[in-house]
Amino acid sequence: MTSAKKLFIKTYGCQMNVYDSERMAEALGGQGYVATDRPDEADMILLNTCHIREKAAEKVYSELGRLKGLKAANPDLKIGVAGCVAQAEGQEIMRRQPLVDLVVGPQSYHRLPELEARTRAGETALDTDFPEEDKFDRLAGRPKAKRGPSAFLTVQEGCDKFCAFCVVPYTRGAEASRPAARVLAEARDLVERGVVEITLLGQNVNAYHGEGPDGRDWGLARLIRELAEIEGLKRIRFTTSHPNDMEDDLIAAHGDCDKLMPYLHLPVQSGSDRILKAMNRKHTAESYLRLVERIRAARPDVLLSGDFIVGFPGETEADFEDTMALVRAVGYGQAYSFKYSPRPGTPAAERGQVDEAAKDDRLQRLQALLNAQQQAEQAAMVGRTVGVLFEKAGRMAGQLAGKSDHLHAVHVAAEGEWLGRIAPVRIVESAPNSLHGELAA
Ligand code: 5AD
Ligand code: SF4
Repeated sequence: MTSAKKLFIKTYGCQMNVYDSERMAEALGGQGYVATDRPDEADMILLNTCHIREKAAEKVYSELGRLKGLKAANPDLKIGVAGCVAQAEGQEIMRRQPLVDLVVGPQSYHRLPELEARTRAGETALDTDFPEEDKFDRLAGRPKAKRGPSAFLTVQEGCDKFCAFCVVPYTRGAEASRPAARVLAEARDLVERGVVEITLLGQNVNAYHGEGPDGRDWGLARLIRELAEIEGLKRIRFTTSHPNDMEDDLIAAHGDCDKLMPYLHLPVQSGSDRILKAMNRKHTAESYLRLVERIRAARPDVLLSGDFIVGFPGETEADFEDTMALVRAVGYGQAYSFKYSPRPGTPAAERGQVDEAAKDDRLQRLQALLNAQQQAEQAAMVGRTVGVLFEKAGRMAGQLAGKSDHLHAVHVAAEGEWLGRIAPVRIVESAPNSLHGELAA
């Protein structure tokens, strides 16, 4: 018997890439690959890349540069680039970095075994098609091995919104939803393997409209309610959502579906109507605030998270102040904020750009406000008892680390037997990026 080949995958970017990396590892498992966390002993290295901002994309080229030494030491090593940079710049990557053997776009992962075989035959392989077939359908079934208690499950991919700053509609293609029966089967399989928390993923997850087993169109709320029927599945989350796809039944589910966790990532990007229009967001600051009110009416303790871009072309100091005002009006428990990064091929990249120093200054001010809100929200958890799912050993001996219902990282003095289980925890202290608690069970 030949010994197993080793596969090292490095994942950049969003949670969907994390999910895709798992599925790629499974697909190559069928070719005799086992995962390794050591690039120096790998027979194949895959970089699963992100193209959302310039910095993310640049990392790929510097990482490829670093891999030169490994390739020199082991000429049989195959190097592949997957993900959104592969989709957007496949040819360019092959031209700039001759050490790359394989380029595969996010819609073609089911073709990996075939592409890998071509590299073993000494060829290079590039596939950045948007094929008609469902890649998830073709990816091998998941092996039955036990796994950690929390899993991602992609239900929707792509985006039809075309925000003027964003590459996603180009790298991930048009919105497409997986049939509900397949999602439910995958969820049941995950639960059988020890998963108690599933996060449904999609670039625009709340635009999910998949075919139900009854032949009807199921929205995300219906899918969540059916998932909630799976015995053993304790927690359901979803990310990322667009405000315009937040339908009434999904808001209602936050109020009456116990397994749906009180956390919602709902990016707004800007608080200025002028900028929202220039971004092609198709909502206003006011409509977003009304939406937040309705969500909080359904689930008063929901923790809201958001994404913000500062320095979008045309943003003035007054526009930026509108963003600050919106943040004050909402009160976020957690948020991501970015300087606008012009992306090739997107409409906003062609417009007059905001001065870099102004971008830096605005980002600092916004982050100071968002951080103060996060700290206030965390401090408000002290004294409360919340559910915590224990996921791994903590940094200190005798400690476990887990996630609260509101997605806070929580450290608790507890024995290993709690791993994979959910227990009530009384929060006793708030640290900058996590909470400390005591078992209340
Ligand atoms: N520049 C800066 N931030 C961006 N995002 C998307 N495209 C860009 C860009 N060109 C941010 C948005 C989005 C998040 C995933 O990344 O805030 O919600
Ligand atoms: Fe990008 Fe999200 Fe806008 Fe779609 S909705 S274009 S993924 S920012």
